[in-house]
Formats: sequence, C-alpha cells, structure tokens
Amino acid sequence: MGAPELDWWRSAVIYQIYPRSFADANGDGMGDLPGITSRLGSLKTLGIDAIWLSPFMRSPQKDAGYDVSDYCDVDPLFGTLDDFDKMLATAHGLGLKVLIDLVPNHTSDQHEWFKRAVAAGPGSPEREFYHFRDGDVPPNNWQSMFGGPAWTQLPDGQWYCHLFDSSQPDLNWENPAVQEAFEDILRFWLDRGVDGFRVDQPHAMGKAEGLPDHPDVARAGAGFIEGEPSPPMWFQDSVHPIFRKWRAILDSYPGERAMCGEAYVLPLSFMALWVRPDEFHQTFNFRYLDSPWTASDIRACVDESFAAFGSVGAPSTWVLSNHDVMRHASRMGGDFGRTTASDGVGPNDPQPDAELGLKRAVAATLFTLGLPGSMYLYQGEELGLPEHTTLEPEFRQDPTFARTKGARVGRDGCRVPLPWEANSSISNGFSSTGKSWLPQPASYASYSRDLQESVEGSTLETYKRALAMRKELNLGHGTFEWVEYLCSESVLAYRNGNLLVTHNFETSETSWEVGHQDT
Ligand code: NOJ
Repeated sequence: MGAPELDWWRSAVIYQIYPRSFADANGDGMGDLPGITSRLGSLKTLGIDAIWLSPFMRSPQKDAGYDVSDYCDVDPLFGTLDDFDKMLATAHGLGLKVLIDLVPNHTSDQHEWFKRAVAAGPGSPEREFYHFRDGDVPPNNWQSMFGGPAWTQLPDGQWYCHLFDSSQPDLNWENPAVQEAFEDILRFWLDRGVDGFRVDQPHAMGKAEGLPDHPDVARAGAGFIEGEPSPPMWFQDSVHPIFRKWRAILDSYPGERAMCGEAYVLPLSFMALWVRPDEFHQTFNFRYLDSPWTASDIRACVDESFAAFGSVGAPSTWVLSNHDVMRHASRMGGDFGRTTASDGVGPNDPQPDAELGLKRAVAATLFTLGLPGSMYLYQGEELGLPEHTTLEPEFRQDPTFARTKGARVGRDGCRVPLPWEANSSISNGFSSTGKSWLPQPASYASYSRDLQESVEGSTLETYKRALAMRKELNLGHGTFEWVEYLCSESVLAYRNGNLLVTHNFETSETSWEVGHQDT
C-alpha cells in the first residue's frame, strides 16, 4: 500500500536535485531543467515520492543560486519558465511531487529591490527593504556565515547587513512590503502547480530589535550553537506569524501543498515549534545529520526526534546528506565531525577511507529508511558517490573558500556533477560535450548509474530494494519501538510494524540471536 495522497509529506521520500549537477541537456557543462526532465524516469524507478530542486531562479550565481535576483523567472543557465512547466508536467505525469527552493532571508545584490535601495539613498523607503545603518564602523559585531564581517559599506557611507556573502543582502522582514512581495512569490509558483517549498534559512529572517551585538563575539559568525543565549540574528519569535500566513496560503490551494523549513534550531524540542500544525509541515532533522554515527548518539537522537516532533503532531524527517555537507559515503569513512563536514575536505587534508565509508553509509541509509517519517535523499547517494576530496583550489566556487582565503575549502566537493554512463569523454553522461562546471574525480566513472543498474548488490539496487520495501510495508506511516534485548553499546534494533531492523555500528562482525517472534 502506498502513502495516501493526503498527508503524503508525512512519509514521503524526497530526492534533492541540485540542478547545476544533475544532468546537462545543452552541453554547456551546467545542469539544466531539460536535463532534469530527461532523467526523471530513472528517479521514478528508484522509488522516490517527490523531488526538491535547489534554486534555479535568476541569479548571478555568487552562491550557486542562493542569491536570487528574480524569484519569478528561471535563470537562463537552467532554461526557461517553459522548461520548468515541462519538467513539472513530466514529474506529475510520473506521479512525483515537486518542491522548489525559496530563499527569503536574502536576495542577490542584483535584485531590483536592492538596486532600487542603493539608488534611492539613505532614509528612503526603498532602503527599508533591507537592513541599512549609518556609522563609521560596522553597526555590530555580527560575522558572515561564509567568513568575514556581516556588514558591507556603500560609497554613501551606509552599511548593509548580510549573514552570508556580501552579494546576499538580508531582507528586512519587519517591513510589510517585503512580506507582501513574498506572498505574491508563493502564489506565483503555487499557481504554476508546485507541490510546495523548501524554505532556506527561515530562522535567520527575524533579527533582534535594534540589531544588538552578539553576546559572544567569538560565536558571532558561527551559526548558532545549541544552548547559546538568544543569538540576535537567529530564530527570533517574530518569524512565526509569517509562516502561519504562508501555511494559510498553501492550505488555500487544492491538493496538499507542503513546506519544509531549513530551520537550524536545536534542541529538537525547539525545532518542533516550527512544525506546529499551522506552520511548516516539516523541518530538516539536523540533529540526525549531525549525530556521530554511534549507537548511543543515534538512539538518543531518534528518541529525541519522536518525542519532539510527536509532541506537536509532526513527522520527523531523516536526512544524511545534502549540498552543504560532506557526502555521508565519505563522512563515514573517517573522523569527520560536523564542522569539518560542512567545510569540506581538500587535497591536503586527511582523506576518507572510501570502501569503509560506503559500507557504513549504505548501512546507515538502510537503518534510516526503516524509520517512520519522511526521508530526504541527496542526488548521487543512491550511487554511493563519495565526496570529491581532492578538488584543486582553482576549481573552487563556494564563496566560503574565497572569503576565508582558502582556510575553509567550502562545499564544492559534495556538488560535483553526477555520473550517469561510464565514459569520461562525456563527463560520464552528465554532459554530451564532456564539459562540467566542476570536474569529476576519476573515480566517478566506476560509480556510474549504468554500471549499477540491474547489478545485484550494487548501491543503486540496494537503494531500490529498500525503497520498494519501505513503500510496500508502508514504513513511513509506521510505528516504532526499540527491541531492547538486541540493543547494546554497538547494536541498535527496532521494530516498525512487523519489520525488525538491526544495525551494527562497529566495523567488526557481530552476531545476535533473534527470537522466533522477531523473524
Ligand atoms: C542554506 C543553503 O542550503 C546554502 O547552500 C546557502 O549557501 C545558504 N543557505 C545561504 O542561502
């Protein structure tokens, strides 16, 4: 039995497409919408329920599209609105839902709103779209997440705030005109037929009144750290009414449109406030993504997840990889904590053990796919793709690399184009010309989809089998209980309905006896 149409998001397996790197139809080395359309059939056979597309809107691409200059148009790099409509219709024809990325915390500095604000000058209503301040020095001690100060000064003397790159000015969400503009943007895409949104950095949209200093300057650019006393740039209460309005807009459309917030707020009991019944449908479970892969950490995280999300009637999502962190097939092949993972690995760093990493990653995915709730997969993980850990500096494009003068290599290593058919002269099927905006490492040929298709025991077939079983047993809507007598320091075992899932977290073999009631 498949998931019922209503509540589809409670159990859906959602596959993240990173458009730049999925499939390139026009041979310019950049993935595009027609490329996605042409490959949707293979995603259908993988057994997923929905896709989420990272940004493809007009953008100068200073942060790979997370710097939007027009929210209601497609960047020519990726195609046209017509190409988007074709992609959407094809996905729907295959029974796949489509979520798109919405980036409301900041625009590009090339957005009309920012250009108008710069032109209109200090004190103008146009400047009220963003956070502008006077002064000889930066207005506070905030730092950019990508390194360096979070303020840039214009020639007229005013500073503007950007929690990310200087090309990504933060919007002023206290301004009703900003709120209205985004409601129109939501409607624009909902009218086109999208099934929902993945919302970028929603926890950054509200800023504490008066934009005060961060209490601990050492942490002022670190994102937030759990337990930190109210950082002035993260998770302000003022944002919740905005999402309630958005939810009402989504709910006013036919079908069930859903939104997933990239709300990086911990502990999970706090994150759960974002998925109260009238706000987001889902948030990414970053606790799970960040957890060291040990029995005790994962057990604690799973318990915390069910308790927190259950308390507000929301599903947990489960996620192991995305475009901002080291791929889990590499992360699990070494000692790579969250900080290193989100900063990537370069040629001079300790390298992961690819074989060990892949074994552990596939096992981790199987453990995760048995859990009730919704699961996010990141493109390429079904092939067991490793991170590109030897990318040379001249190819690096993540703004983090330049802003930290190479101290942090950034996230390019998890964004390398996918290998479809093993043949290096065509970037392994990514692009007919062989062009590729980031070069694939030589090893990618051996992970190509065509070499894994119908090959018993390949990572791809293992994913397909697990996804089919998840659907058949309706595990996403299932139940959960630990099987205590099988759990130990190195093993976790749980039951979802009649399915028993056991997982050995160690690299050495172990055995356990399963009672007849558990077989
Ligand atoms: C989170 C996105 O996932 C990341 O890729 C981006 O750089 C930042 N938000 C800024 O938009």
